[in-house]
Amino acid sequence: MDILGISAFYHDSAACLVRDGAILAAAEEERFTRKKHDNAFPAGAVAYCLAEAGIDASALELVVFYEKPLLKFDRLLETYLAYAPAGFKLAKLGLPLWIRQRLHLPRELDRGLGRKYRGRYVFTEHHEAHAASAFYPSPFEEAAVLTLDGVGEWATASIGHGRGAKLELLRELHFPHSLGLLYSALTYFVGFRVNSGEYKLMGLAPYGRPTYRERMLRELIELRQDGSFRLDLSYFAYGYDDVMTSPKLNALLDGPPRKPEAPITERELDIAASIQSITELIILRMAAHAHELTGSKRLVLAGGVALNCVANACVRRDGPFADVWVQPGPGDSGAALGCALFAWHQLLDRPRPAPASDALRGAYLGPAYSRDEVKRQLEASGAKFSEEPDEAALQTRVAALLAAGQVVGHFAGRMEFGPRALGNRSILADPRPPDMQARLNAKIKFRESFRPFAPAVLREDASRYFELTDRESNAYMQFTVPVHPHQRGAPPSTELRGLERLAAVGGAIPAVTHVDHSARVQTVDGEHNRRLHGILRAFKAQTGCSVLVNTSFNVRGEPIVATPADAYRCFMHSGLDALVVENCLLLKSDQPAASVPDPQFELD
Ligand SMILES: [Fe+2]
Repeated sequence: MDILGISAFYHDSAACLVRDGAILAAAEEERFTRKKHDNAFPAGAVAYCLAEAGIDASALELVVFYEKPLLKFDRLLETYLAYAPAGFKLAKLGLPLWIRQRLHLPRELDRGLGRKYRGRYVFTEHHEAHAASAFYPSPFEEAAVLTLDGVGEWATASIGHGRGAKLELLRELHFPHSLGLLYSALTYFVGFRVNSGEYKLMGLAPYGRPTYRERMLRELIELRQDGSFRLDLSYFAYGYDDVMTSPKLNALLDGPPRKPEAPITERELDIAASIQSITELIILRMAAHAHELTGSKRLVLAGGVALNCVANACVRRDGPFADVWVQPGPGDSGAALGCALFAWHQLLDRPRPAPASDALRGAYLGPAYSRDEVKRQLEASGAKFSEEPDEAALQTRVAALLAAGQVVGHFAGRMEFGPRALGNRSILADPRPPDMQARLNAKIKFRESFRPFAPAVLREDASRYFELTDRESNAYMQFTVPVHPHQRGAPPSTELRGLERLAAVGGAIPAVTHVDHSARVQTVDGEHNRRLHGILRAFKAQTGCSVLVNTSFNVRGEPIVATPADAYRCFMHSGLDALVVENCLLLKSDQPAASVPDPQFELD
């Protein structure tokens, strides 16, 4: 039985195909349309999922959508009215789209599926989809479930309990009281884009001091012991305006919001540190409450807030659970996977066998390309390449390039699901040179200099480099961990202020060490990613170092590359020195000048 799960029309549209309860394929639409966070009907992702399953839409048993549109519309209307007349501004912006499209979802979905699907549509609640995406693919037979995001229909957070095939939601927090919206409001205030710049705010936090924390806790939030809270809405405008915060917040935070791309000052760093600290406090309290309600020893997290790998780490370290698991796409894209699994287990009442491991197979759920197709696309792009049929020889060659300080694009196997590149659509580099972080930011990714890169480390050597126990898996890069004290440098001089401190972080692997000596590590084993594991082993053999920089294969504002042609384009328009696509090796110095047009992505 084939079930298609869809998330769409808000941000990060995606599709997922579940066959007899197993996840066959999943992908975000942005990879196909090359439009970051694309919210359109996921036509490309659906076509890919159906092709992977070898069927067309007429063979689908069930199509499931990741939220209940009428309930969401009800929330929007009530909010517009509650804020009348100010709310009419948002109503005017939002209502036409609802009337044209979103209130007629079956019609829109019919159109998207080429009118071939004859079955019924199922709409799950948004937080049911998030909770299902966290629990069903997890390695746990039983677990507490915590979901946190901006808002779905009404719920902005939920606590649940998963047991076998059953998933029960026990508590909900409702709009407009939302941790996701609070974090997004401060993201906006600090001058980054809502629904994409939140991870930048998290990256800034370790530079600052939480000097606004007490003030925010006193004025903005009425936080209860169980983690539930009420926001003082006079500081926020998202209920009635197209901006996130009201002028009253300016007074509390010593001035107006920072303009995008304006210099980042100590104030922004301190705001980031403060809101991150509050986020951790709220999540810890909610996690403790989830533990009380369920008595479970394990926790799974989902919703956009679960992309906050610093807060996830805080729950794992300081919370009451023996084990915490976060799937690779906890945001709205992952809800496509969640709603399909929810339908299978909850609506169709199908059993869930006791899991031996998680069901996401390393997150490699997207399209792969045959060697013939790779050659066809590279030749059509005008690329010059050599073929290396022997995998080990290619890995040795790549490791040698990396050891010589070159930056290599690595494209192999199936594309990752979720926002993290986990080796198959990754840019790799040597983490040891002191200037590598700045070089990668300036010449390859064209992004802000304050963000360190993430490390990939051989699973078997992880505890040499990071404070990580054998029990703690970091296969999906969802937790930050401290760099091992032996691998750290001297504390940066206290004379260095703010963002200057990253360049002075030092230690054995400075390109992947943040100013607070944390790292968002990916542990790599031979079972889930044979090729990245092979490159890491070859790099270790040549240099003694078991760590590489692993950053997503894209430039700023660009979705991660999906096809060999995307990879070649990105390679040619960035400072990448070499590119591996399956068994083909391309050196920048061999390429014809400017053979492919520069797609010019809008900065995010
Ligand atoms: Fe969500």
